[in-house]
Amino acid sequence: MWSFSKTTATILTLASTFYLVLAKPLEDLYARNIVSGSSEIQSSYDFIIVGGGLAGLVLASRLSEDSNHTVLVLEAGETGDANIAQINTPADTYYASLVGSEYDYAYQTAQQSGCSNRNIAWPRGKVLGGSSAINGMYLVRPNQVEINAIHSIASNDDNEFWTWDSFYAAMKKSETFGAPSDAIAAEAGIQYNAASHGSSGPIHWSYPGETFSIIGNWTPSLSTLGIPANADSAGGDNSGAYIATSSINPSNWTRSYSRSGYIDSLPPRSNLDILTSATVTNIVWSSSSSSSNLTATGVQWASSATAAKQTVNANKEVILAGGTIGSAQVLQLSGVGPSKYLQAAGVDVKLDLPGVGQRLQDHLSASLVYSTSAETAGDMHADGVNTPEFLSFINSATAYVNLTTLLGSSAASSLISSAQSAVDSSASSMLPLGDTTVAAGYKQIYNTIANQFYQGNSGQIELLMAITGAGSLLIQAAIQHPLSAGELYITSNSAFDSPFLNPNYLVHAADLTIMREGLKLARKVSQAAPLSTYLTGEITPGSSVSTDADWETWLKGAVGTEYHPTGSCAMLPQDMGGVVGPDLIVHGTSNVRVADASVYPFELSSHLGAPTYGLAEQASTIIRDYWNGVSVNPNGTSSTTTSSTSSPSTSGSSSSSNESKSSGALPVSEVHMVFTAMACLVGSLIALV
Ligand SMILES: Cc1cc2nc3c(=O)[nH]c(=O)nc-3n(C[C@H](O)[C@H](O)[C@H](O)COP(=O)(O)OP(=O)(O)OC[C@H]3O[C@@H](n4cnc5c(N)ncnc54)[C@H](O)[C@@H]3O)c2cc1C
Ligand SMILES: *[C@@H]1O[C@H](CO)[C@@H](O)[C@H](O)[C@H]1NC(C)=O
Ligand SMILES: *[C@@H]1O[C@H](CO)[C@@H](O)[C@H](O)[C@H]1NC(C)=O
Ligand SMILES: *[C@@H]1O[C@H](CO)[C@@H](O)[C@H](O)[C@H]1NC(C)=O
Ligand SMILES: *[C@@H]1O[C@H](CO)[C@@H](O)[C@H](O)[C@H]1NC(C)=O
Ligand SMILES: *[C@@H]1O[C@H](CO)[C@@H](O)[C@H](O)[C@H]1NC(C)=O
Ligand SMILES: *[C@@H]1O[C@H](CO)[C@@H](O)[C@H](O)[C@H]1NC(C)=O
Repeated sequence: MWSFSKTTATILTLASTFYLVLAKPLEDLYARNIVSGSSEIQSSYDFIIVGGGLAGLVLASRLSEDSNHTVLVLEAGETGDANIAQINTPADTYYASLVGSEYDYAYQTAQQSGCSNRNIAWPRGKVLGGSSAINGMYLVRPNQVEINAIHSIASNDDNEFWTWDSFYAAMKKSETFGAPSDAIAAEAGIQYNAASHGSSGPIHWSYPGETFSIIGNWTPSLSTLGIPANADSAGGDNSGAYIATSSINPSNWTRSYSRSGYIDSLPPRSNLDILTSATVTNIVWSSSSSSSNLTATGVQWASSATAAKQTVNANKEVILAGGTIGSAQVLQLSGVGPSKYLQAAGVDVKLDLPGVGQRLQDHLSASLVYSTSAETAGDMHADGVNTPEFLSFINSATAYVNLTTLLGSSAASSLISSAQSAVDSSASSMLPLGDTTVAAGYKQIYNTIANQFYQGNSGQIELLMAITGAGSLLIQAAIQHPLSAGELYITSNSAFDSPFLNPNYLVHAADLTIMREGLKLARKVSQAAPLSTYLTGEITPGSSVSTDADWETWLKGAVGTEYHPTGSCAMLPQDMGGVVGPDLIVHGTSNVRVADASVYPFELSSHLGAPTYGLAEQASTIIRDYWNGVSVNPNGTSSTTTSSTSSPSTSGSSSSSNESKSSGALPVSEVHMVFTAMACLVGSLIALV
């Protein structure tokens, strides 16, 4: 078993020293499980993980902790070794970004009618580590209200794994927190509660080794606007202003991401293979599958659009971790999705599952630019400073602002009531597929946002300050709970073609208002002391933008992605157009799960990296417990327990929203017998492998 105990760390250190003494290149240690070329993999594995991104490598690491399971990861991108310094160096996120490189899919959205008909760039990582290898490294947690809402909508209050308490523990499990030095904390105004952080997980959460006094002006300035400093933002209440943690390993100021944290640190594991440059083209279904209970026997993959497809078999499960775009795309290419779109793309429909790709959402942001007299990281970069401490610099001044603070209570009330009255018209205009189950899920989510998140202390706007430009500073506002939602669908039967991507940015009037007011608030931040003392003028958009109409015109041309698409494989009951149940099994299949950022049914007030580490930890526990014959719901009284312990195949139907919580549940003693029988079966299968 692999854990980050002190003893293990010592053993690892000894092991690497041993390798060094033997004059073996250290890269061998890191690359141990990473292979290239089809000849280096077996013909079958227990688990095939599609995508070696943020979530995929967590699953690979955790599932292969059980030495009785064999695991293969198929990753479309390369290892990243050719550009490893750029991945590892935090400040290269700004000064030598891999966005736009061969490690980026560089998708484009469809023309956005709410954004002056622009196509908007959608970068996504295509390399081991996925987007965690190229992202902006913010590590912030969602609000507990949002996670509990997922629990109640998606799992009928029936599954332990999606409560805040359980999810919070899983997020902590992935984390090792590193406190800032006293000097850095004082200069930047960093506050934290170490008890809300993890202490022995694979991903390092920390702060840069260099900071700037201008950052220390952030929380005092926001507090003058009624946005109080939050000294414990990671523990379930993420509202207010703070200096966020970043995915920095403070021992050598490198990026901590899913590959470095979960894979490179592993001891040798003969039951884990990771194959790069392998794009999964489709799932292979058993010929005896029925159309309401599809069983995967494996996947096909190819190294390029023109290369021959190869097949690899899955003895137990296929786990999709291709991200919000990749996982929905692979399902659709495999004949699982809205039949209308699949037929149009020339794909045989195996299972009409309308929710796949529907209700696609994203966070949207824009930045105001100021000239500043204060020293910025951009100035230091321009001066050629390249110490490891400076190169660990990451922007992290953050705030989440609720609707009443953003609008004032009277405007907030009127926005809430006009949103409430637009639920039906929004469902029909946002979702042209016209499926009633998808619309039912959309309305449920919509009402959760309008009736709960809008009215509570949940962040509707995120404010960020960036000081990585020379002589200038950015204040950014980003909408967190859009009511706009769209769709993603394949337009060809090739995994190498981009799907059609339409988040319907700003199509809902409430989103436009929130975005406009968020940007007006960003301007107020620039005028608040002490920050205002250091700002010498607004460069963008400038004083010509002042009326609400000016702001709306400007922002439609200026907004861009905040890089958090989600919703395409939503965890929701099937009669709400869901794709996966609370056990993450795709409805209507017996052994295909989705475990990545695509399963959140709605946007969280958080960057999606930190929650997705927690989600992948939960998924790993669910899957291991199931195959090891442990009760997935420890209370053993719900339908979830029954479905997950008897066979994964039954869970698709039993996740339906109006399944009685007790119907079909076995008494505890019988559940135990099922485990025992399963364990024998699994044992005999292993003997054959
Ligand atoms: C530029 C950018 C900046 C961001 N900044 C932040 C930030 O500061 N903080 C934060 O928390 N989040 C940030 N994010 C978002 C965060 O990185 C993602 O939400 C997170 O990585 C999602 O994890 P995932 O596992 O779902 O997908 P990914 O990490 O994207 O991994 C998916 C993997 O699957 C692979 N794949 C897809 N399809 C196939 C296929 N058919 N066959 C084989 N492999 C396939 C991909 O190549 C990729 O490696 C940012 C994202 C980007 C792109
Ligand atoms: C597989 O290994 C795990 C832990 O390594 C153990 O809990 C489980 O019982 C094992 N399962 C079988 C069927 O041997
Ligand atoms: C950084 O340190 C970690 C140990 O904390 C190590 O595993 C990793 O390889 C180091 N990274 C580099 C690039 O040296
Ligand atoms: C919104 O935030 C402010 C500032 O923290 C707080 O006083 C207020 O109670 C919050 N509103 C709600 C509805 O929680
Ligand atoms: C399961 O049991 C725990 C501990 O007794 C309890 O806190 C939790 O509420 C229970 N959950 C359900 C769904 O019954
Ligand atoms: C679905 O198929 C699997 C594999 O063939 C089988 O074990 C399971 O019993 C089936 N489930 C249902 C509900 O038919
Ligand atoms: C769920 O309940 C609705 C309304 O009560 C009903 O129309 C539908 O058929 C039920 N679905 C299932 C799967 O029982």
